[in-house]
Amino acid sequence: MAFPQSFLDELIARNDIVDVVSSYVQLQRKGGNLFGLCPFHSEKTGSFSVSPDKQIYYCFGCKKGGGVVNFIMDIENLPFPDAVRFLAKRAGMEVPEEEGDREAGRRRQRLLDLNRDAARFYYQLLQQPEGRAVREYLDRRQIKKATAVKFGMGASPDAWDVLLTAMTKKGYTKSELLQAGLVVQNKNGGLYDKFRNRLMLPVIDTRGDVVAFGSRVLDKSEPKYMNSSETPVYSKRRVLYGLNLAKKTKRPNIILCEGNLDIVTLHQAGFDNAVASMGTALTVEQTRLLSRFTKELVLCYDNDNAGKIATERALQILNGSEFSVKVLQLPRRRTADGELVKQDADDFIKNQGPDAFERLLNGSENGVEFRMSQVAGKYDFTSDESRVAYCEEISNLLASLPGAVEREIYTVRAAETAGTSPDAMKLEVQRAFKRRVAKEKRAELRKDLNPAAQLQPRERALRYENIRSARAEEGVLRLLTLDESVFPPESPLREEQFSSPLLGKAYSLLWQAKCEGRSPTVSCLTGHLSGEEIAHITAICQQPESAQNAAQALADYIRIIQAEADKRAGGAAIDPLLAAVEKNKDKKGTGGKH
Ligand code: CTP
Ligand code: MN
Repeated sequence: MAFPQSFLDELIARNDIVDVVSSYVQLQRKGGNLFGLCPFHSEKTGSFSVSPDKQIYYCFGCKKGGGVVNFIMDIENLPFPDAVRFLAKRAGMEVPEEEGDREAGRRRQRLLDLNRDAARFYYQLLQQPEGRAVREYLDRRQIKKATAVKFGMGASPDAWDVLLTAMTKKGYTKSELLQAGLVVQNKNGGLYDKFRNRLMLPVIDTRGDVVAFGSRVLDKSEPKYMNSSETPVYSKRRVLYGLNLAKKTKRPNIILCEGNLDIVTLHQAGFDNAVASMGTALTVEQTRLLSRFTKELVLCYDNDNAGKIATERALQILNGSEFSVKVLQLPRRRTADGELVKQDADDFIKNQGPDAFERLLNGSENGVEFRMSQVAGKYDFTSDESRVAYCEEISNLLASLPGAVEREIYTVRAAETAGTSPDAMKLEVQRAFKRRVAKEKRAELRKDLNPAAQLQPRERALRYENIRSARAEEGVLRLLTLDESVFPPESPLREEQFSSPLLGKAYSLLWQAKCEGRSPTVSCLTGHLSGEEIAHITAICQQPESAQNAAQALADYIRIIQAEADKRAGGAAIDPLLAAVEKNKDKKGTGGKH
């Protein structure tokens, strides 16, 4: 991973952060910085800032930040070396490849090749006599041959080592097969195929690489679905089943479902805009992926409790985002015995046909309507008591809507539902709104009263041992990136004097850059610290620090750090004694001064 420092310096110099970020985010100048809508979390007002002077980005909302390489790592989902290559290409630079990098890239590619070969193997098997059981299963599920081909479906053999043997013959090693999650190891170290006698559903990313497999049993046995585990080329949080096809849709939106076979049925019925997250709730990473292809989402989860919870959670993730969101509710179906049962998209299309689904799609409620009808469903409107309770709950929901117009429109609608006058409902909502604001204020106040909690980094792993020293250490870093000229030629601090190992390391890296005649900026940390660590340092460096009294401030910071470090050094021996004295004092309950 070690690219030569001179190369990284030139790479960073040639990729101005404003230019790079501007191709993803619309930025507007405000003072010395530029602002825009954060690409890493959903928001309506811009809390994402870029500093041309410091060559850093920082989001005040989600606290992501760093230099230009971190930005590319975050937004393109790339590991460090790939982000460097990406930027090198952008700037027309040649990359001095390290043997180690080439090796990692090669290993990744080998896994992708292996997945592709395995997918081909399963695919071919489906056409052969051994694939008969799966073919019959597809018939039972009314999945046409053309659809199966489009999804690259296959059959895994009803045996323990057929894939293992076939892939070994192709030259893949046992370790590669294990890494790809295609084979499993038993207690004695023997290997066997993970997927046996199943319908195979390759998971293909938007680049067209086979990154994983989903699979289904052919009968009622468990587990019904079995998916690849997380591998170096697959993270389920970042992938959506069917998006490789749905990204090409001409429809204006993308439909999110729960199940793989729902997607297959929907595509077959002409809804080529359907995708599924495989057995997980919608993630922020997935919404970011989706935002590259659409601005309108339709949630189509199962109409049961779990599905409703999943819908509510997805709505929360999408609340205030740039997406417009609708909820398509699948009606329950009455069985011959008169029982009401849930249907998923697959059942619904089979029972009612594509036209009925199209009508549901067109008539689907927006997210607010969905939540309102969920609330309404809980109350009996023939009882006055229940109506009052409804008004109370619904006014809390309405008060949480961000837009005034939206609040007004739905307030009127809620009044209709409750059978009250709109004015009365408006009053309720206003009251709820005030309660909400007051509550938020109280929470703010509590936060202000507990500064220690606020001063701690959000990441647990970065927590400070000694807040007093850490604040001073932060100040030193800030000054060093702001104006190195206030520092003496020799380093006034040693890394061990820092109470926070991370801040100490950052200081050493920045100081080294300064000694080598480079300017000490956050970009110098790239490649040496993790993305989270760099985001943390970025957060520190973007805080205001007056350049006017910099020299005095630096002297103060250094004094604090040295004093705290001395306490630690001397304190190690004394500590147990001191603790004993303290304990004794508490026992006596005097607490008095000596
Ligand atoms: N799932 C999973 N592991 C399971 C069960 C489900 O990963 N043991 C995921 C699968 O991606 C599945 C989705 O959750 O498609 C929805 O599960 P479920 O509603 O149980 O199945 P259906 O999609 O309706 O499956 P089918 O119609 O094939 O019975
Ligand atoms: Mn189903």
